[in-house]
Amino acid sequence: MPKFRKTPCFLVLVIVTSLLSAAQAQAGSAARAAAPGGVNDRSLDAKVEALLHKMTLDEKIGQLVQYSAGQPTGPGTGRTDYNDMIAKGEIGALFNVTGAKEVNAYQHIAMEKSRLHIPIVFGLDVIHGFRTEFPIPLGLASTWDPALVEKAARVAAREASASGIRWTFSPMVDIARDARWGRMAEGAGEDPFLGSAMAVAYVRGYQGTRLDAPDSIAACVKHYVGYGAAEGGRDYNSTEISEHTLRQFYLPPFHAAVDAGTATIMSAFNSLNGVPSSANPFTLTQVLRKEWGFRGVVDSDWTSVAELIPHGIANDGATAARKALLAGVDVDMVSSLYHDHMAKLVKSGEVPQANIDEAVRRVLRVKFALGLFDHPYTDEKSEAAAMLQPESLSLARSAAERSFVLLKNAAGTSGAPLLPLSADTHTVALIGPLGDDGPNMLGSWAGMGKGEDVVSLRAALAKRIGADNLLVAKGVGILDGKDEDIAAAVDAAKKADVALVVLGENAGEMTGEAASRSNPGLPGRQQELLQAVIATGKPVVLVLCSGRPLIAPWAFEHVPAVLAAWFPGIQGGPALVNVLFGETTPTGRLVVSWPRSVGQEPLYYNASSTGRPQGAPGGEEKYVSRYIDELNSPQFPFGFGLSYTSYQYGATEISAKQLKVPSLNASLGVKASPVLTATASVTNSGKRAGEEVVQLYVRLQGTSVAQPVRALKGFQRVTLAPGETKKVTFDLGPEAFAMWNEKNQFAAEPSRATVWISSDSASGSGATFEIVP
Ligand code: BGC
Repeated sequence: MPKFRKTPCFLVLVIVTSLLSAAQAQAGSAARAAAPGGVNDRSLDAKVEALLHKMTLDEKIGQLVQYSAGQPTGPGTGRTDYNDMIAKGEIGALFNVTGAKEVNAYQHIAMEKSRLHIPIVFGLDVIHGFRTEFPIPLGLASTWDPALVEKAARVAAREASASGIRWTFSPMVDIARDARWGRMAEGAGEDPFLGSAMAVAYVRGYQGTRLDAPDSIAACVKHYVGYGAAEGGRDYNSTEISEHTLRQFYLPPFHAAVDAGTATIMSAFNSLNGVPSSANPFTLTQVLRKEWGFRGVVDSDWTSVAELIPHGIANDGATAARKALLAGVDVDMVSSLYHDHMAKLVKSGEVPQANIDEAVRRVLRVKFALGLFDHPYTDEKSEAAAMLQPESLSLARSAAERSFVLLKNAAGTSGAPLLPLSADTHTVALIGPLGDDGPNMLGSWAGMGKGEDVVSLRAALAKRIGADNLLVAKGVGILDGKDEDIAAAVDAAKKADVALVVLGENAGEMTGEAASRSNPGLPGRQQELLQAVIATGKPVVLVLCSGRPLIAPWAFEHVPAVLAAWFPGIQGGPALVNVLFGETTPTGRLVVSWPRSVGQEPLYYNASSTGRPQGAPGGEEKYVSRYIDELNSPQFPFGFGLSYTSYQYGATEISAKQLKVPSLNASLGVKASPVLTATASVTNSGKRAGEEVVQLYVRLQGTSVAQPVRALKGFQRVTLAPGETKKVTFDLGPEAFAMWNEKNQFAAEPSRATVWISSDSASGSGATFEIVP
């Protein structure tokens, strides 16, 4: 029996919670059950049962065992006897094996030498592209364009499957509120609504319309759950998250991904309220299985089963294996503890046979759903042709263009905003450690991406303005630098019409996993270089390449134009040139609040109010919630991003002054119809055509549990010609006004609701209505 390590009082809450959620889950599963070719396809059950029936205990345990057989992506070197183990049916999944030939070699052993011929499923961290690398996920989310993200995931699936990879450990849907955490780069930022939209987009893109199509791959939504809330932003650190906060902020993207049919989920490294996520029966069994009806596989993270020992909840490998499996982890990634101890645990009765059978059922279900039994091998001849196709490259370029966020665009010497650069820009000085860089542009977790596939900014600029007009002077390295090189960069700036300074982080070492930074600003001597270039008096455009918002208040004050380019992928150079020269108008918006200083972290827009809110922003009243040495507000708010044109918003108008709780709750469910319409006119008040990301936020006041000062509940992209006005309409369902209440039930409550239609999380004027009993 799973052991709930919670107080009885907590258990009561859990049961109450499950009443409503279970009804929702049922409705959700009914809709999912019809989905063909996925883990919810019941027509696979008979095949699964028939095979399960033939399996010995050791063969069953083999299906729950996974190893890395290539470049390791975590600590330890693993084993070397995979061929032998596969032949004996002791391995169900391998990952980090690359190339169709290598994959097929292992698969032949499984299909020809193992007794039951059960295919291996091959996985890889295909995070933001396989060979065609797209912007990092933080950049992809900054497009606020789920349809584009779905297309990018589809390209990744096509390329990966051509190499024999049918399982990706993506998307990472961890809510990230702290820029110190290096893995912020891998997710969609701080908001559960946007995060859910992105989660669904990735799952759909990877899994396609049918999981058994040869170019579909199984998604693995990770890291379940709360991993992004690591204390102090230090990777792998513990988290303390109340059930309310967990349900309201951290769980929704996972739930959305389950509803979208994700085949697998990865359990996280962190402990959550004292219980490691890879042995947490509440999250893994109660919420995931019982409330949401998830029928796919839970995979542990890299050695997270063995890590139950250093976590302090197991003193030996057998206990760790037992606790993980009983909590709901089906597959043991790399630890080898299921392999080493599970048979004995079953024979001694410590792990019921039924739990093993259930875990194996899920694994077989995914393998059947992927069509692996019918098509276990990959066509080695078509592998190369699938990579870097022209449409994939063009999608990578447009994804990069749309991921850039224009943070500042003050007047240049002509008096007009510095960007876009004028067509008669003749000489450009390209300065900074990342201006002529391939590998870093790929970002962390770059799959099979290659530095040589990257079109760097230098190459793209040279093509645009002619190599002779491009003065390249790195100035400093990412972490180091010499006075004479800074002087050379200053000389280049003096000779040019404009200086493009490209600064930021090292993608592999400073962002991604195990890359937490206590001071996430410009590293090394980069600010010094920037100051020296600014001192020339030449127009300066700063391009930031990073996996997080970089704390750089000096730059934001003194540099006239700043573009956040994240790590833009293999088409980063051409995309930057298109945006800098105005062929494309920037449309990216921040998905994380950009901090002014590290002491503000964790920083997120959708926080609760306090009993002593600060009145006027920046006010100096004493007994209010504020810093005495820093503003409360971010440098740039969530949702923010400038354009080369400007937009004016009319007042938010709503269709009702009152809504009734019973009618809201009656329609809460899968196919709820809209209950309120909100509209605002948006005008392009500038001189260029543009695409605005119109955002809708809600606040509820007078509720049983304090609600965020604003919560995103909708967004739309609207194209506007110069001078054009459009009425933008949002049809809001009851879920926009429901919340996790004091009983941890998702319901509407009598309250005052305010709705804003605005261009970011900090602007606009709201319209208010009452939700009445
Ligand atoms: C990471 C996961 C990744 C896994 C396999 C772990 O260290 O946390 O995100 O999927 O390794 O490479």
